[in-house]
Amino acid sequence: MNANSHSLHPQKNRFWLNPSLLAADFAHLERDIRALEAAGAEILHLDIMDGHFVPNLSFGVPVVEAIRRTTELPLDVHLMLQNPEPYLPVFRKTGADFLSVHIEVVPDPRTMFETIRKLGARPGLASNPPTPVESVLPFVKDCDLILTMSVMPGFGGQAFNPVALDKIRRIREIAGENTFISVDGGVGESTIADCAAAGANLFVVGTALLGHSDISAQFQRLSGLCAPPLILP
Ligand code: DX5
Ligand code: ZN
Repeated sequence: MNANSHSLHPQKNRFWLNPSLLAADFAHLERDIRALEAAGAEILHLDIMDGHFVPNLSFGVPVVEAIRRTTELPLDVHLMLQNPEPYLPVFRKTGADFLSVHIEVVPDPRTMFETIRKLGARPGLASNPPTPVESVLPFVKDCDLILTMSVMPGFGGQAFNPVALDKIRRIREIAGENTFISVDGGVGESTIADCAAAGANLFVVGTALLGHSDISAQFQRLSGLCAPPLILP
């Protein structure tokens, strides 16, 4: 386990950008990770795709292992896998700190959450835009992270689907203070403030961050947009 793996915890009025390395330049992954660290990133989002649950492939264990050797930042591993269970120990061993599975393939995730905790990682539950929030709500208190997709998973660079906002509001009503409420897909300048207002506190950002030549300036810009306005006395 890396030194920082359990150091990130939700706090009132705190927001985190969660850069998705899917939008990184894989020929210069270390360079991009260093740029994100320098910009102030406190966590990284890794998208694992199997070509079954989603119509795409991304990267797998050797790449996560290489990222783990490159950075001490907590790794939030989003498993877009039809059958995630056999891969939980593998990804934990490579250095995953958060492991999120999809409700569409794990309708009752409690046993899987226990497995993830026993492995020493923190469990998360993801849902796709068409999946009713009611299927997620019974498990909100059982996991550390709720990941609401605002695009159909599989590809970066898609347009934000506002159906996620209502789901986030409902999740926020019952989530404990120790739960990260994450939003993933099409989050950027024009959508991040709405996500924050709905109750999200962890914003997966791919294209809107890594698509910019000045990652640091863009990180500051997006962070400023999700922070609540300063209320003066
Ligand atoms: C989509 C992935 C996302 C993706 C987001 O399947 O889950 O994490 O990288 O990319 P952007 O921010 O470009 O929509
Ligand atoms: Zn993702």
